[in-house]
Amino acid sequence: MSTSFQNIKGTFDILPDAYTDGGTRIASSAEWHAVEETIRDVMHRHNLEEIRTPIFEPTELVARGIGQMTDIVSKEMFAFERSGTNYVLRPEITAPVMRSFLQHHLEQRGGVQKLFYIGPCFRAEQPQKGRYRQFHQFGVEVIGADDARADAETIAIMMSVYRAFGVDNTTLRINTLGMPEARAKFVNALREYLEPYEDDLSETSRRRLAKNPLRILDTKLDYEQEILADAPVLTEFVEDESREHYVQVKTYLDELDIDYDEDPLLVRGLDYYTRTAFELESPDLGAQSALAGGGRYDLLAEEIGSKQPVPSIGFAAGMERLFLAIEAAGNDLPEPEGADLFFASLGEEAEHWVFQTVHRLRGEGLHVAHDLKGRSLKSQMKEANRQNATYAIIIGGNELEAGAAQIKHMASGEQVEVPFDRIVDYVRDETANVEE
Ligand code: HAM
Repeated sequence: MSTSFQNIKGTFDILPDAYTDGGTRIASSAEWHAVEETIRDVMHRHNLEEIRTPIFEPTELVARGIGQMTDIVSKEMFAFERSGTNYVLRPEITAPVMRSFLQHHLEQRGGVQKLFYIGPCFRAEQPQKGRYRQFHQFGVEVIGADDARADAETIAIMMSVYRAFGVDNTTLRINTLGMPEARAKFVNALREYLEPYEDDLSETSRRRLAKNPLRILDTKLDYEQEILADAPVLTEFVEDESREHYVQVKTYLDELDIDYDEDPLLVRGLDYYTRTAFELESPDLGAQSALAGGGRYDLLAEEIGSKQPVPSIGFAAGMERLFLAIEAAGNDLPEPEGADLFFASLGEEAEHWVFQTVHRLRGEGLHVAHDLKGRSLKSQMKEANRQNATYAIIIGGNELEAGAAQIKHMASGEQVEVPFDRIVDYVRDETANVEE
């Protein structure tokens, strides 16, 4: 009996080579690595430090943090119970980071905590292009600052990441959501306005009208957008302090020459936001156009048990959508590096010598490859090519006797004789010359 298992729908494997899955290119592990490295580089330049939190968290934390009524909590959680405790695979990383901040008293380190993360998240959404059930986010949380510069700097960091990849076909939308009291008044007004149109709304919006009318503002349906054209506007309900903060955020964005569209209809799918909210979109991404999103969450800490307010702001972005945007921009990802040196062997004695030498040279820091299958010389050289090795060396009886071998530069075909004890230096010097 043969069993063939497949990865779970909405997930994907990252393989040594890129491949296409349902029309979407899945980047190679080397490309993921390179992209993550660039993200880390941008983060370090912006003086951020990395935080890593567990993949699963108490359900209560996530539900209280993100909000019971949100789509994420009400229908998209991968949750499980074990020995009476409820866990959830994290659907996002902001609530976990705040939990960690509070638990470890990170405020005692002094100043504002500027943290970044890269890691998998889980949401039981309907999979489609750019939307997965296991996806990867990178993001930033700036914890302990209510100054509008923190908002503008967070947005600037987000923009810098996309700039580092040459992704510039993007639109930044910003809004202020105000504080909860203002929002509650607005929600009432919105509900009152929409109720007469209830029969004209989609099923999703009708459900949202009862539970979470703010989300109706997100609608992509033309006829709903028409209805909303004359709806009350959140900005009119926002209290003066938030409004003033918003003006400052815009001033700081202007100072950094960051373009934005003000969008009074922008709301976010998570309940913890206060004041500033923003989203970065790309028209190249199709239906799932949000590259990244974020905002201020000044009340989250207290929502999950803090006695003190901890004003904070952050953003998170989908790695998979970043890859799509890089592809759409026509930008190449860095090629994976091949081995410095490939050893081919002829005969048993040479195989033993190569086996030991490869191990030794790896210990000395070279990236060395060889054949583990005892194949013909021709196949071994083909393998050296496939692996994109810079040099190849063939070792047989003659070479062992002479204590030297021809080292072949694979790209040019040039060959030079090198004594065995000079191999490491030769490869190092030559590759250093090329890099200069
Ligand atoms: P979010 O808007 O829910 O915000 O997610 C951020 C980004 O994650 C989205 O813009 C999108 O690129 C990506 N994303 C979300 N769901 C999926 C999915 N199913 N498949 C692929 N990509 C997805 C948050 O998660 C907040 N924690 C952001 C934040 C950080 N706010 C403050 N700090």
